Amino acid sequence: MSRFERIERKLERKITKPEKVFKTDEDRKVCSEVFDKSTLLTLYDLANRGVIDTVNGPVSTGKEANIFRAYKSDNIIALKIYRIATSDFRTMWQYISGDPRFTGTKKDHRHIVYTWAKKEFRNLEKAAEVRVYAPKPFVVLNNVLVMQFIGDKKGNAAPLMKDSPPENPEKVLDLLLKFIKKLYVNAELVHADISEYNVLMFNDKPILIDWGQAVTIEHPMAESFLERDVRNILRYFRDKLRISVPDEKEALRKIRGEKVGS
Ligand SMILES: Nc1ncnc2c1ncn2[C@@H]1O[C@H](COP(=O)(O)OP(=O)(O)OP(=O)(O)O)[C@@H](O)[C@H]1O
Ligand SMILES: [Mg+2]
Repeated sequence: MSRFERIERKLERKITKPEKVFKTDEDRKVCSEVFDKSTLLTLYDLANRGVIDTVNGPVSTGKEANIFRAYKSDNIIALKIYRIATSDFRTMWQYISGDPRFTGTKKDHRHIVYTWAKKEFRNLEKAAEVRVYAPKPFVVLNNVLVMQFIGDKKGNAAPLMKDSPPENPEKVLDLLLKFIKKLYVNAELVHADISEYNVLMFNDKPILIDWGQAVTIEHPMAESFLERDVRNILRYFRDKLRISVPDEKEALRKIRGEKVGS
């Protein structure tokens, strides 16, 4: 038996066998794409370190990553597993190379994806520091990010804002603009992909997710990312939820702390 086969056997005892969890053809295809050898070893490592007990099935398949539920004792946690093979390295590199926290990152594909996962983890830590609602980050190892699961005790993930518009839109818009400001002023960070597709609604509170692309304000594109975030969020509340929203320039001035009229 090869070293890998031995590890795989042990892994089966620690982690639910993927084939049992993935029942449809589509799920199985995802499974073989996501769980390559190195990712299985990373999960094995996380199980050995006591971070997770079992991996329990898919929550969502995104462009670059898959979200899974995992268990640690009775607690549900979320795993974001970045696929090494199908990630968009060129775009990732643009967001990494202008960020002073990651100068010196090697430009090979695997390293870019690992750095991306680490970047998402650091951004989530920053969000927690300045009290912006986001999943709490637990551990990052290689291409696997372990974080708080946003959802109910049965394992149903909270819905996206686009599918579950807030009952109190004025309040939620106000909170989201406050979050953007806190991030910019206190954490010196711009999320850079805020829209109704990256906000989960949980107990009628907005939780910002998907932080891989967030950059520090030194990034050459930070200001235009900030403008895009504000534009996206105002557009959603104005056009889809039909509430009156602040003027975009005015909202940006407030966020940047500039005086009205200057
Ligand atoms: N911590 C979490 N708890 C519960 N569900 C989550 C969590 N993080 C992500 N999800 C779910 O997984 C989906 C994809 O997550 P995310 O946006 O971070 O990944 P992505 O690869 O950028 O996906 P996409 O390309 O769809 O934006 C989310 O839309 C949400 O439904
Ligand atoms: Mg997303």
